[in-house]
Amino acid sequence: SVNVNDPGLITLVNKLQDVFATVGVQNPIDLPQIVVVGSQSSGKSSVLENIVGRDFLPRGTGIVTRRPLVLQLVNRPALAKANGAPKEEAVMKSSDSAANMDEWGEFLHIPGQKFYDFNKIREEIVKETDAKTGRNQGISPLPIGLRIYSPNVLTLTLVDLPGMTRVPVGDQPKDIERQIKDMILKQISKANSIILAVTAANTDLANSDGLKMAREVDPEGQRTIGVLTKIDLMDQGTDVVDILAGRIIPLRLGYVPVVNRGQRDIESKKAISAALEHEKRFFEEHRAYRNKHAYCGTPYLARKLNMILMMHIKQTLPEIKARISSSLQKYSAELSSLGDSLLGNSANIVLNIITEFCNEYRTVLEGNNQELSSVEL
Ligand code: GDP
Ligand code: NA
Ligand code: MG
Repeated sequence: SVNVNDPGLITLVNKLQDVFATVGVQNPIDLPQIVVVGSQSSGKSSVLENIVGRDFLPRGTGIVTRRPLVLQLVNRPALAKANGAPKEEAVMKSSDSAANMDEWGEFLHIPGQKFYDFNKIREEIVKETDAKTGRNQGISPLPIGLRIYSPNVLTLTLVDLPGMTRVPVGDQPKDIERQIKDMILKQISKANSIILAVTAANTDLANSDGLKMAREVDPEGQRTIGVLTKIDLMDQGTDVVDILAGRIIPLRLGYVPVVNRGQRDIESKKAISAALEHEKRFFEEHRAYRNKHAYCGTPYLARKLNMILMMHIKQTLPEIKARISSSLQKYSAELSSLGDSLLGNSANIVLNIITEFCNEYRTVLEGNNQELSSVEL
């Protein structure tokens, strides 16, 4: 799988949720949110869309993203398949925006309305952006809330933001730079944000708005990944090898070069799958990247994010364990206070829950602990 929704990770988180729900612990794992920052038109929305693996974000030249979009992916088991048809298989192979009854979007501003067509989701984002900002390139800090329900996503939040811009145009306020900066800082200062600092490779890294903003809130670079877009648009004979090697502006978590769809691809509605294929070939065949193509492109960026999420789960486990064992103690105390006379039905239920939990806890948690201990960044 190329997107952030790694099936192994989805299974792990779902299992953990099940086990914890059994003992009454809800949402034990609060996964970090992923936020993109960078200059206007550096490719932020394109990067996010490729990571999610679905076509639904407005992208293009100029200031297209004019309100923050808070995108919550919600994992939800697939519906039972009708007539035993191999539906999932068909969906995996169909086009990016094909309707599938197991996957839909819902906007916070239109509760209850399900969008099965991802093109309609994009249209609604555009419409709702205009509704609060005017059509003439205005901006607004009011976020658009969108939830995507699917069996194929990790329950996770992604945030798309307007890019840094300095000179107001159209209906934009005089202090647009400060307003956008505030919007971005509000999202990336959260300690649980993973920052994708996006810089177009055909611009100067030293002037990167994304890196500058990221450094303000994450000076140690603990949660910032550098993303270099538009590698395909660099001048002949130039490349980002020195940046990747950490010789220009080193970043702890490093840089990932990507090739997104260009404006013409957007106009011709090039599918994500075709774009990823093109990206793969680009890095495999390019003189400067072919000997390190495994560390280039969207799939590698997604793997890097998966590792960070795994690390996060691993770091969260001890605290969850402590919470569980204290609730176990509470249960056993309650159980013994019930005394012999009450050791009938209700006590049996509690005992069953504890036994079930202990079994699952051992197999799921400790099994995955070993798996997790081999994870390295
Ligand atoms: P944002 O403003 O940062 O969200 O950038 P968008 O994702 O909207 O992209 C801005 C423009 O740059 C669009 O026309 C994209 O097609 C184009 N673009 C983004 N990434 C790449 C890339 O890697 N290669 C090429 N050729 N064009 C890109
Ligand atoms: Na843009
Ligand atoms: Mg955008």
